[in-house]
Amino acid sequence: MLTSLSLAALAFLPSANALVRKDGVGRLPALGWNSWNAFGCDVNSTKIMTAANEIVNLGLKDLGYEYVNIDDCWSVENTRNSTTQRIIPDTSKFPDGISGIADQVHQLGLKVGIYSSAGETTCAGYPASLGYEQVDAEAFAEWGIDYLKYDNCGVPSNWKDQYAACVPSSSTDGANGTCPDLSDPAPAGYDWTQSKTFTRYTAMRDALLAQSRTILYSLCDWGQADVNTWGNETGNSWRMSEDIGANWDRISLIANENSFKMNYVGFWGHPDPDMLEVGNGDLTAEENRAHFALWAIMKSPLIIGTALDSISDANLAILKNKYLIEFNQDPIVGRSAHPYKWGYNPDWTFDSDHPAEYWSGPSSTLKGTLVLMLNSENVTSTRTAVWKEVPELKHHNAYRVIDAWSGKNLGCVKKQYSASLASHDASVLVVKEAC
Ligand SMILES: *[C@@H]1O[C@H](CO)[C@@H](O)[C@H](O)[C@H]1NC(C)=O
Ligand SMILES: *[C@@H]1O[C@H](CO)[C@@H](O)[C@H](O)[C@H]1NC(C)=O
Ligand SMILES: *[C@@H]1O[C@H](CO)[C@@H](O)[C@H](O)[C@H]1NC(C)=O
Ligand SMILES: *[C@@H]1O[C@H](CO)[C@@H](O)[C@H](O)[C@H]1NC(C)=O
Ligand SMILES: *[C@@H]1O[C@H](CO)[C@@H](O)[C@H](O)[C@H]1NC(C)=O
Repeated sequence: MLTSLSLAALAFLPSANALVRKDGVGRLPALGWNSWNAFGCDVNSTKIMTAANEIVNLGLKDLGYEYVNIDDCWSVENTRNSTTQRIIPDTSKFPDGISGIADQVHQLGLKVGIYSSAGETTCAGYPASLGYEQVDAEAFAEWGIDYLKYDNCGVPSNWKDQYAACVPSSSTDGANGTCPDLSDPAPAGYDWTQSKTFTRYTAMRDALLAQSRTILYSLCDWGQADVNTWGNETGNSWRMSEDIGANWDRISLIANENSFKMNYVGFWGHPDPDMLEVGNGDLTAEENRAHFALWAIMKSPLIIGTALDSISDANLAILKNKYLIEFNQDPIVGRSAHPYKWGYNPDWTFDSDHPAEYWSGPSSTLKGTLVLMLNSENVTSTRTAVWKEVPELKHHNAYRVIDAWSGKNLGCVKKQYSASLASHDASVLVVKEAC
């Protein structure tokens, strides 16, 4: 069976019951920092506290960045405490344990996150939580954890799904996001809440909900088992694709995949296109800002993944863009921006190199409409936003416009706005009242 993305986009069936938490936790996309994209397995308390202090010092906390998340490799390998069955924090990396660092992060007015996997081992081979959901959720709560990223590594053969799911990516996709080479596809209409993946992820949800501490639940099942249809009732966000990388190919690939998932975005539930790579690899200035802008307008969790003590002023300014953060954190409008035109390609074309280039969405915080134009080409090219084509703007001929990168007021703009964009750059416009 072939799964057609355009059909999936039409079948708007998000699950009705969200994972609603106390104090609004998980209602809006999470804002924070995670150690993996910056340091991989080479993590310790010094690096975590440096990040936490920089979030405060650089003014990121004032903008709402609040989670400081420890990714893989925080524990002792191949063992659990023989008395308590708990995972043992590695005190050579975290001398005061995980509860000690949680206290220090909390003293800064920030929250702290931890990592595990819905398998027997994490992706780097450390103890993980399958079969130990209650024990681990209890330990996380007791240590003062506020956020759990739950990965999909170390799954034993008796916990594998009966059927394979279609998660189109550059290496496997057919035309328009189909998976023609899938070896064991599910029958039409298969209910993925019957899958073992669903069971593995709901077991940890239930264990977290049984704690008196509120722990945001971030599913990292790489889009498997059609998670978009059950993520809302299971977690506060769910990874909809394979891992990001610090290069434009991966960013463009995931932006393309996620552009077809925008009907699944809402309060309490957010498809997660993976953590930010702003400041990493060899991304150009244009690619860094287009990446951040796309993630922000898709209402993705915005989890910074770079070393904050060495970040450049330009990259910091991108992460601090107030218009994009305000759009992402809108307390009244839950929907994301949506593509209104693909641009380089005919509408609804699945293309990893040329994702949808024209996006718009309403914003209560910006008191207007956000419009984004992307140049997906590898040469400089012009993109034009024509008000008549933008669903939110088609009723008037002229609008007041602000350029979200410079903050410059572009005045009363009639009919359309054109921007010459370098390769992989994005123009972001805040379109205010008609004029
Ligand atoms: C999740 O469910 C809530 C209702 O509980 C709804 O408001 C929201 O739009 C849903 N989100 C998604 C992504 O389906
Ligand atoms: C195992 O847990 C017990 C009880 O909390 C504790 O006394 C002991 O130090 C722990 N052992 C290790 C290796 O962490
Ligand atoms: C963490 O790693 C850094 C860099 O290798 C090192 O300078 C620091 O002392 C380490 N901290 C701990 C607690 O191991
Ligand atoms: C994908 O679908 C769209 C709309 O149905 C169509 O215009 C486009 O040509 C298709 N692309 C491919 C590569 O089949
Ligand atoms: C630029 O894009 C064109 C058209 O998609 C492609 O043929 C070419 O290989 C690309 N060049 C580079 C350097 O990526």
